[in-house]
Amino acid sequence: MVDFNVENKIVLITGGTRGLGLYCAEAVVENGAKTVIISSRKPKACEDAKAHLEQLAKKAGNNKCEVIAIPADLSVEEQCEDLFKKISEKVDKLDIFVANAGATWGAPLEDHKVSAVKKVINLNFVAVYHSIQLATPLLERAATQEDPSRIIIMSSIISLLHNDSVGTYGYLGSKAAVSHLGRNLAVQFAPRHINVNSILPGFFPTKMANGLIEAAGDMLTETNPRGRLGEKGDLQAALLFLCSKQGNYINGVDLCVDGGARLAKM
Ligand SMILES: NC(=O)c1ccc[n+]([C@@H]2O[C@H](COP(=O)([O-])OP(=O)(O)OC[C@H]3O[C@@H](n4cnc5c(N)ncnc54)[C@H](OP(=O)(O)O)[C@@H]3O)[C@@H](O)[C@H]2O)c1
Repeated sequence: MVDFNVENKIVLITGGTRGLGLYCAEAVVENGAKTVIISSRKPKACEDAKAHLEQLAKKAGNNKCEVIAIPADLSVEEQCEDLFKKISEKVDKLDIFVANAGATWGAPLEDHKVSAVKKVINLNFVAVYHSIQLATPLLERAATQEDPSRIIIMSSIISLLHNDSVGTYGYLGSKAAVSHLGRNLAVQFAPRHINVNSILPGFFPTKMANGLIEAAGDMLTETNPRGRLGEKGDLQAALLFLCSKQGNYINGVDLCVDGGARLAKM
């Protein structure tokens, strides 16, 4: 029997207060994590998600699970540094880091301001780079040859596509960039026993994606080979596969979780 779990792991998830980040937090809380640290900008969202995850941990029988919520705007360099300072005061190592926080912007080229591109790239790429840089000493402390520490980058299938009907120039570029960063670091970090993989979700209903999903109508489900959008369990299965001890030989992959949508005409 293969039992994918994250028992006794210390996990950090940025953007862990809603959407895909919260799905990841729920998955690790329900599958044995010892400490789960979530972060996002809004203090109230952090507190609400913490209370929800604590309840979920109890329900799953993971009574020793500690949930820590620390607000921070990762697009601000000093706040990113402050987040990792606070994390270091709470834990002495990290087993798993899910770099998930992200944002998007779409507009036709003529109306698409350079400032909007910079803002998206700053959060989706620069802040991912910065937070990985700051997380690395903590990840190294948990790393072993048999069970390396894990970095999971939340990229997107859109990083592979070129039919940008809504003008998400910065977003597409940022996702291609983080996937590249993941493959680059996978090679560099392997000798230090840190695996780096990217998850490339298709379309999942979340605050970020709902506008686009509504605007697309039935198109996204009709053109998806599996005939539906992504669901919570789809993402959670991928995360646990990449983060469990059994997945320790998986390194440097772009794991598409999209029902095959990237291969079909959207
Ligand atoms: N949903 C999809 O279909 C889809 C598909 C492919 C990839 N993705 C990727 O998955 C990730 C999560 O997206 P989602 O759909 O779950 O979006 P979402 O529902 O909008 O959640 C984004 C999360 O990031 C946090 N966040 C936003 N800006 C931040 C900042 N400057 N600093 C720190 N935290 C910040 C948000 O909380 P606060 O507002 O409190 O900061 C929230 O917790 C993103 O990287 C996205 O690109 C999503």
